[in-house]
Amino acid sequence: VKRLQIDTYGKARDVVRLVECDQPEPGPDQVLVAMEASPINPSDLLLIQGWYGHRPQLPAGIGTEGVGRIVAVGSAVREQRIGHRVLVVPNLKQSTWQDRVVVHDDDAISVDASADIHQMAMLGVNPITADLLLRSFVDLAPGAWVAQTGGTSAVAGYVIALAKRSGLRTLNVVRRPEAIDGLLEAGADAVVVSDRDLRPQLKEALGGERISLLLDATAGAPVTDIGPWLGHGATVVSYGGISGGTVALNPSDIIFRNLHVHGFWQKHWLDVTTPEEIARTYTRLQTLVVDGTLQTPVAATYPIADHQTALAHAARSGRSGKVLFSWQSHE
Ligand SMILES: NC(=O)c1ccc[n+]([C@@H]2O[C@H](COP(=O)([O-])OP(=O)(O)OC[C@H]3O[C@@H](n4cnc5c(N)ncnc54)[C@H](OP(=O)(O)O)[C@@H]3O)[C@@H](O)[C@H]2O)c1
Repeated sequence: VKRLQIDTYGKARDVVRLVECDQPEPGPDQVLVAMEASPINPSDLLLIQGWYGHRPQLPAGIGTEGVGRIVAVGSAVREQRIGHRVLVVPNLKQSTWQDRVVVHDDDAISVDASADIHQMAMLGVNPITADLLLRSFVDLAPGAWVAQTGGTSAVAGYVIALAKRSGLRTLNVVRRPEAIDGLLEAGADAVVVSDRDLRPQLKEALGGERISLLLDATAGAPVTDIGPWLGHGATVVSYGGISGGTVALNPSDIIFRNLHVHGFWQKHWLDVTTPEEIARTYTRLQTLVVDGTLQTPVAATYPIADHQTALAHAARSGRSGKVLFSWQSHE
C-alpha cells in the first residue's frame, strides 16, 4: 500500500514523499479502513512544516481526517462493521493520506454511505470546530452578533450556516472584495474587507450595536480593529493564526469592557471527550451535511500520487474551495 510520509519537517514540496509500505493489520480493537477521500487543511500544512501544536515522531504518515470503507476488523470487533463507510476521528493518532489505515474501532464512526463523499470527508475537522466555537464559550441570545475573521474559510462557512439556524447574526471579515456577494448569499449578515479601513465598515454594519463573540482564525490587524466594537463582557476566541500575525487587543478594550479571551483547539476537545459524546456530536452534524445545511465548495481532488500539485493548490490564496485527496478514479 502507498502512503504520504515526511522524514523531516520543512516545505511540503521538499519533504512529502509517497512511499510503499506493507499493508497494516488491525489489532484486536482496531479496524482497517480503505481510504476514499481526505481533505488537505491548513493545519496539515503547518504540521508538515513543524509549526503545529502536534509534532509526530519522524518518519511519520500525514493527513488528519477523511472517510473510507472498513475492509477488515480485529478479533474483538463485530464482523458486521466490514463494508461500513466511516469517518476517521481527527485526533492525530493515525494518518489518513494513505491507501489503508488502521484505527481504533472507537475512532471509526459510521457515516451515511449515500451522502456526498467529499462533504462527508470534511466533517471531521471544520464543521465540529464551527459547532464547538459557537457553543463552548458563551450562551448567545438570538440576534447577537458573532464576528469572525477568515470569512472565506470552510470553518467560517459552517459558522455562518450554524449561526443562521440559531438566529445569530454574523459579521465576516474577508481580505478579497469579490467574496462579499457569495457570503451574503450564503447567509452572512455583514461582510467587511480587511484591506480597506475597517472602522467605517464596522460602523456601517453594526450601527449602535456591539459584538458578543469574536472568532479569530487569522490574527493580525482585524482583531485590533474589531476590539472597540466588542460589547461589555464579550468573548474573543483565537483558533487560527493563518496571517502569521499576532492577536493584539487594546488593553483598554480588554480592561474596561471586561473581555474574555480564550484559545480553542479541537484536539483538546477530542482528548477530553468520551467516545460516546464524540460519536453523538458527529452523528448530529452529519445530518446537517446530509440535508445540505453544512456544505463547503470543493476546488479539486487529486490522487495521492499527485501530492505535489495537490499540496501546492491547497496552499494557494483565493482558492474556490477545499482540495482533497481522493481514491476514486480520476479519469
Ligand atoms: N483550532 C482548531 O481546532 C481549528 C480547527 C479547524 C480549523 N482551524 C483553523 O481555522 C482556519 C481556517 O481553516 P479552514 O480549513 O476553514 O480554511 P480553508 O477553508 O482552507 O481556507 C483558508 C482561509 O485562510 C485565509 N487565508 C489564507 N492566508 C491568509 C492570510 N495570510 N491572511 C488572512 N487570511 C488568510 C483564506 O483566505 P482567501 O480565501 O482570501 O485565500 C481562507 O479564508 C485555519 O487557520 C485553521 O488552521 C483551527
